[in-house]
Amino acid sequence: MGGHTIEAETPNVTLREVNVKNLEAILALKVAEPQQGFVAPNTKSIAQAHFFPEAWFRAVYNTEQPVGFLMLHDEHLRPEPREQGYYFLWRLMVDESSQGLGIGRLAVEALVAHVQTRPKATRLLTSCKQGPGSPEGFYLKLGFVPMGTSSEGELELQLSL
Ligand SMILES: CC(C)(COP(=O)(O)OP(=O)(O)OC[C@H]1O[C@@H](n2cnc3c(N)ncnc32)[C@H](O)[C@@H]1OP(=O)(O)O)[C@@H](O)C(=O)NCCC(=O)NCCS
Repeated sequence: MGGHTIEAETPNVTLREVNVKNLEAILALKVAEPQQGFVAPNTKSIAQAHFFPEAWFRAVYNTEQPVGFLMLHDEHLRPEPREQGYYFLWRLMVDESSQGLGIGRLAVEALVAHVQTRPKATRLLTSCKQGPGSPEGFYLKLGFVPMGTSSEGELELQLSL
């Protein structure tokens, strides 16, 4: 019996620069309503990036479709780094319509590959709020290890590179 197994296609995820052509599409990406307290809108992130030399941001593509956004705090982009080897995943979002397909995982893996090209990269840090809708379980699945809670009550996590 030669049957076909129907398998979900592995997404083809790349990180690409935000530019005048894809800006509107990136700004239109949204997380689900209960997730909105966990990440800033992309409008805010891209505006902030303009004023922070340490901000490195990219659109997340699945094949030729923009489906997400991430922003890294790369201290070594500053003219005078205040801390050696400081890399912090500052923003990450996948559009509601493209979640649950493995895109978030592949985007973080692509980010890790980028960070590994940067000076003194030994770990990637992040933090998140906890509670219903939190990405905590996502980070744990990717191998991030909880390090404690910040003064603002966010869970701090670390991935060894
Ligand atoms: C968190 C987020 C980026 C995950 O993106 P995604 O593309 O849906 O994630 P993936 O499909 O790659 O999931 C990878 C794994 O994590 C799991 N996972 C995803 N979100 C999860 C969650 N909130 N809690 C627990 N597990 C989760 C998936 O089930 C999957 O598990 P598997 O490998 O066993 O199948 C996305 O849900 C999102 O944009 N959330 C809102 C914004 C946000 O919270 N950003 C982080 C700010 S700190």
